[in-house]
Amino acid sequence: MKHKDFIEIHDYSAAEVMDIFRLAAEMKKQPAKFNRSLEGQTLAMIFEKSSTRTRVSFEVGMFQLGGHALFLSSRDIQLGRGEPIYDTAKVLSRYVDGIMARTFAHKSVTDLAEYSSVPVINGLTDLSHPCQAMTDYFTAWEKLGDLKGRKIAYVGDGNNMSHSLMFGAPKVGMDIAVATPGGYAPDPEIVARAKGDADMAGTKVTVTTSIDEAVKGADVVETDVWASMGQEEEAEKRRRDFDKWQVDRRVMSLAKREAIFMHCLPAHRGEEVAAEVIDSEQSVIYDEAENRLHVQKAILQVLMKDRKRSR
Ligand code: CP
Ligand code: NVA
Repeated sequence: MKHKDFIEIHDYSAAEVMDIFRLAAEMKKQPAKFNRSLEGQTLAMIFEKSSTRTRVSFEVGMFQLGGHALFLSSRDIQLGRGEPIYDTAKVLSRYVDGIMARTFAHKSVTDLAEYSSVPVINGLTDLSHPCQAMTDYFTAWEKLGDLKGRKIAYVGDGNNMSHSLMFGAPKVGMDIAVATPGGYAPDPEIVARAKGDADMAGTKVTVTTSIDEAVKGADVVETDVWASMGQEEEAEKRRRDFDKWQVDRRVMSLAKREAIFMHCLPAHRGEEVAAEVIDSEQSVIYDEAENRLHVQKAILQVLMKDRKRSR
């Protein structure tokens, strides 16, 4: 697999996505086999936003692969005081073997990738969250088997999660229907690119304002918070605008009877999802959270193992 970075699932072929899934499954089954894979390597983890899962799963993942991870809050490093991304990327590339970054602007991650000589992984931006979407499809694959011809419904804000799920669906052969309230539709450019991928894969990407239309016959139902990190000031307005947008038992009843429910977490019970759904037998949220570790270890190994260092 000849990729330097992991920025969007869109950049990877369907075959490459499946190779990552198979490696993640092997790593999950036989972790000891890989405990020296990244021996002596260091991953720098830059965070402009909070994190539980991403931070812990990458840090533990690097440790389990024999390497080391450095947590760098942007508040503590000079980047947060205005040091250019260009210099940060060049300097970090002299010390570490990979960079994972969670930023507000998507361009911060693409600039890091452009200027660093080491691999860069997108750990969430305002635009996308590819490590999570990869994990979600991996989890669906584990639970449901072959995903070809199946359908995922995403209900809620047209945010970073909706974007990455749209990029992922055609790669695993799934149809995706995204339902959002008016005014909260996903980025049209991302929708157009995902539809292009879907046309080539023979799958469908649908964007609608009808929950019922999206969820009807779905094998997977997913939602996410109404207000993402950085949108705290809009939270009150969003609570009003999303008032009728809760995934509850009625919504789940529109999906297939054996459908699974996913949420990237953190979740707000009583807002985007009812407790009766997220805490039900259909919910796979903790397996999904665990799988971040296995899928990201596979991504780290694919990008960093046997890589010749260059400046
Ligand atoms: N799902 C996810 O990325 O969680 P964190 O914000 O806790 O990393
Ligand atoms: N859409 C959410 C995802 C959190 C993992 C956010 O960006 O805050």
